[in-house]
Amino acid sequence: MKTVTSVHEMTNLAYAFRSVGKRIVLIPTMGALHRGHLSLLKIAKELADVTVMSVFVNPTQFGPHEDYSRYPRPFDEDCRKAEAAGCDVVFAPAAGDMYPPLHSTSVQVDGITTRLCGKSRPTHFQGVTTVVLKLFNCIKPHFAVFGQKDAQQLIIIRRMVEDLYCPVDIVAAPIVRENDGLALSSRNAYLTQEERSAAVLISEGLQAVEKLFSDGERHTAPLIETIEERFAQSSLIAPEYVEIVDLCLLEPVDRIADSALVAVACRMGQSNTRLIDNIILGGRL
Ligand code: PAJ
Repeated sequence: MKTVTSVHEMTNLAYAFRSVGKRIVLIPTMGALHRGHLSLLKIAKELADVTVMSVFVNPTQFGPHEDYSRYPRPFDEDCRKAEAAGCDVVFAPAAGDMYPPLHSTSVQVDGITTRLCGKSRPTHFQGVTTVVLKLFNCIKPHFAVFGQKDAQQLIIIRRMVEDLYCPVDIVAAPIVRENDGLALSSRNAYLTQEERSAAVLISEGLQAVEKLFSDGERHTAPLIETIEERFAQSSLIAPEYVEIVDLCLLEPVDRIADSALVAVACRMGQSNTRLIDNIILGGRL
C-alpha cells in the first residue's frame, strides 16, 4: 500500500492511474478506522481497480466548540488496518496542504443542509461538501463510497454531484453495527461504560419503528413516539432530534407514502458525546 501525504503527489498519481486506464474508487474518511469504514473499502474493491482511502480530519466541518482537536488520530494503526483490508493508497494530507493560507472557496448546498443535523451544526455540511469536492478534484475517482450511517451527508453529496456535474458515481453502503445494534462510530470511543449500555436504546428504538412499519403503520407520529419512549428510558440520553423525513428534501412527513428516512441524534449525558443513527423505511439510498 502506498501512503501519499501531498496533494500535488496525489494529483499526479491519479493522472498516472487514469492514463493507463485504471478506474479509481475513493473512500473518504477522517480515520480512527473501524469495521464500518473497512466495509466501505470492501464494497469499493468490487467497483474499481484502485482503491484510495483518504484519512483527513477536516477542520472546516467542525464547529468552534466541537471535538476537532481531540478527534482520535491513530494514523499508524489506520494504515495497518487499511493495508490489511487491501487498500491500494492512503491519502493523508496535512491540513495546511488542503487549506493553504490563501484558500477562500467553499461549496454550499442550500436547503437540505439546514435540516436534521444542520440545525445544531449550521456550518458542518459546508465543510463536508468543500472537502469532498476538493478530494474529488485531486483524486479524480470514478466512484466514491459513503456510508448510510451519515444519511444526510450522503444525500447532500449526491445533490452536489448532480448540481455541479461532478463526474463520479456515489455508492451507498449499509450501516455496520455492534452485536447489540449500536452503529459503529469513531466517537463511540468517547462513551463511558454507562453511556455505552444506554446507547443500545437508540438502535432498539429504530428497530421497533421498522417493525411497526412492516406491520403496516404509516403515520409518523406514533413511530416518532416509539423512539422517544425508548430515549426516555435512560436519563443519559438527551435527544436532539427524532424525525421522519422524505429522502429528497429531508422535510418532515406526517404519513409515509412509499419511503422515508427515520433519523435521530442525541447527546449522551456524561461525556456529552453526540450520536446519530437512522433507518430507511420502504426504500434505500
Ligand atoms: P467519517 O466519520 O470518518 O466516516 C467516513 C465514512 O464512513 C462515511 O461515509 C461514513 O458514513 C462511513 N461510516 C461511518 N460509520 C459507519 C458505519 N457504522 N457503517 C457504515 N459506514 C460508516 O463522514 C466523514 O468521515 C467525513 O464527513 C468525510 C466524508 C470523510 C468528509 O470529511
